[in-house]
Amino acid sequence: MPRLLSTLLILVTLFPISAIAAGDPVAGETKAYTCTGCHGIPGYNNIYPTYKVPKIGGQNYEYLVIALKAYRDGVRDHATMELQAKALSDQDIEDVAAYFAALGKGEASQ
Ligand code: HEC
Repeated sequence: MPRLLSTLLILVTLFPISAIAAGDPVAGETKAYTCTGCHGIPGYNNIYPTYKVPKIGGQNYEYLVIALKAYRDGVRDHATMELQAKALSDQDIEDVAAYFAALGKGEASQ
């Protein structure tokens, strides 16, 4: 095997770094305060007007980061979530994603 290839292989094996940096779930908890108004409701319905709100507690970290960036950048179309995500920096997104991803893994879930 060519030397470069095996070096790369070793690096990938030793450091399975995701392209997305890890957020801070503790900082995310505070930042996620407004989110739980909609996403923390039992049965996942908003109170009024009644519409389905997806469960995001325990959702995959990368999925949450990608979804929030997609709303923010207008790639994923949803007026409410676009407004929510536009208020978030990359760091905020990573932090709230870390917070929600950690929920349901032994802690109280949403
Ligand atoms: C006013 C209610 C409301 C608030 C507040 C709100 N959301 Fe949402 N959220 C929704 C609704 C409704 C959807 C479904 C949108 C769709 O169909 O794309 C959604 C979708 C999402 C999704 C995609 C879920 C999936 O399964 O694909 C994520 C991630 C998300 N919200 C995160 C957040 C975060 C983080 C916050 C706080 C910064 C937040 N939301 C605040 C109502 C809300």
